[in-house]
Amino acid sequence: MRRIVGLLLPFVIIFALAACGQSAASEKQEEIQTAVQKTDEPSETSRNGAAAETEEMPDTEMGTESSVLTEGQEADVITKTLVAYFSCTGTTELVAEYIAEILGADIYEIVPENPYTEADLAYYTNGRADQEQNDSNARPAISGGVENMDEYDAIILGYPIWHGQAPRIISTFLESYDFSGKTIIPFCTSHSSGIGSSASNLHDLCSESVEWMDGKRFESGVSKESVQNWIVEIGIE
Ligand SMILES: Cc1cc2nc3c(=O)[nH]c(=O)nc-3n(C[C@H](O)[C@H](O)[C@H](O)COP(=O)(O)O)c2cc1C
Repeated sequence: MRRIVGLLLPFVIIFALAACGQSAASEKQEEIQTAVQKTDEPSETSRNGAAAETEEMPDTEMGTESSVLTEGQEADVITKTLVAYFSCTGTTELVAEYIAEILGADIYEIVPENPYTEADLAYYTNGRADQEQNDSNARPAISGGVENMDEYDAIILGYPIWHGQAPRIISTFLESYDFSGKTIIPFCTSHSSGIGSSASNLHDLCSESVEWMDGKRFESGVSKESVQNWIVEIGIE
C-alpha cells in the first residue's frame, strides 16, 4: 500500500500543480479578456464623447456655414442710413434729430461756408437767399463734408422750402458725392408749402441709379410720434 501511494504521489502532485497552473492561466486569460473588452468597448464617457464629436462636426460645419450665411444675409439686409440736413432756424434740424434718434442713424448737418444772416434769410427782400433761389446755377459752398459717404446705403435728406424749392446748397450737396446705387429719401419743413417739385428737381441732379423715395413735408413743431409714423409708413425702420 505504502508502495502504491509512493508511486501515485508524484502523479497526484503533478496533476494538482497542472490544475492550479491551468486555473491561474485561465484566470489570467479572463483578466486579459476583460481588459481587452474594456479597451475595445467604448466607455459611456468615450461613447458620448465620440457621439458628441460626431454630432459636433456637422454642427461646427453648419455653424460656419450659417455664420457665413448670416454675414451674407446681414450684408444684404442691413441698411446704413445717414440723415443729412440743412437748417437755418432749427425747424428742419429738429425733425432730422428725431429721425436719427428713431433710426439710430448717423446725422450730418450741411453747414454753409458762409453762414446765412437774418438779413440773408429775409425773403422777398431780394436778399442773399432770394437771389440764390432765383439762380438755378447758384451753388453755395459747404463747409466740411462726409468722408465715409460710401458706407451709406440710404440718405434721408432734409431741407427747408425756399420759394417752393430746396435751398441751392442742397444742389451743392448732391453734386458733391456719387450717390449711385443709394436711396435718397427727401423731407422738408416749410411755413405752409408742400414738398411740391422740390424733390423731383433734386432728383434730376443725381444719376439715374439713385433711387428716390417719395418725400414728406413737416410743419414747424411736428411731434416725434408723427415723424415716427412717417418712418413706419415708408418702411425704412
Ligand atoms: C428765403 C426763404 C424762402 C422761403 N420760402 C417759403 C415758401 O416758399 N413756402 C413756405 O411755406 N415757407 C417758406 N419759407 C419758410 C421756411 O420754409 C420755413 O420757415 C422752414 O421751416 C425753415 O426751416 P429751418 O428752420 O430749418 O431753416 C421760406 C424761408 C426763407 C428763409
